[in-house]
Amino acid sequence: MKLANSDTAWGAPAKFFHWVSAALIFTQFALGWVAVSTRMSPTKLNLFVWHKSIGMLILALVVLRLLWRVFNIAPSLPADTPAWERAVAHASHALLYVLMIAMPMAGWIINSAANIPFSIFWAIPLPAIAAPDKHLAELAALAHLSLFIALAGLLVLHVGAALRHHFVKKNNLLIRMLPALKWLK
Ligand code: HEM
Ligand code: HEM
Repeated sequence: MKLANSDTAWGAPAKFFHWVSAALIFTQFALGWVAVSTRMSPTKLNLFVWHKSIGMLILALVVLRLLWRVFNIAPSLPADTPAWERAVAHASHALLYVLMIAMPMAGWIINSAANIPFSIFWAIPLPAIAAPDKHLAELAALAHLSLFIALAGLLVLHVGAALRHHFVKKNNLLIRMLPALKWLK
């Protein structure tokens, strides 16, 4: 198992960070909506503990992921990739990282400004990063929703680009991000 990235391949940690974060983020989309839509009950409160806890886990993972990324090279794009496509790929990846940080930060601000005591996975108390303020809590909730819409839109582009590389351009860009499923060979 290769750990470091190379000019042609992602190492195991980069793949782990990518797919675990993706799975947790898709889980968050569903959990967030279900938690918001459920009427007030112990179930709703539990759904929010799961939502906020997984959100903070995503924040921790993205910090580790960025540290790993800074100290590693990234594989080059296929040689025939035009300059505009390289620019869009780099900009959209950077924006995905920004959104993966901004979403949980906005959630953390809602939780702090709404003055809701909360412990991550019922175990680690989350400190407040803003003073209690109803107006700020509403603004942060609006930001959280807007960031969700931006992230969902960008992911449509991201997944579309990955599928286009695989099925239209027929290069190995998607395959090189997949785990090496040696036991299937
Ligand atoms: C919440 C979901 C996802 C997020 C936040 C996300 C984010 C990212 C980011 C930030 C990168 C750039 C990695 C870097 O340069 O450090 C990346 C690469 C990549 N993503 Fe995703 N991704 C998600 C889901 C998906 C899905 C569902 C697919 C496939 C259908 C996919 C396919 C890829 C591929 C193939 C690359 C590597 C591109 C290359 O080798 O140059 N991603 N992703
Ligand atoms: C990547 C991480 C996260 C994603 C993708 C995400 C996604 C969502 C979604 C889709 C909703 C429902 C739509 C809405 O009303 O905004 C939501 C609601 C909410 N999320 Fe998150 N969330 C994340 C992290 C967090 C964190 C870390 C917290 C708190 C510590 C949090 C607190 C909340 C709250 C309080 C609501 C309800 C907002 C309202 O009542 O308007 N979220 N989230």
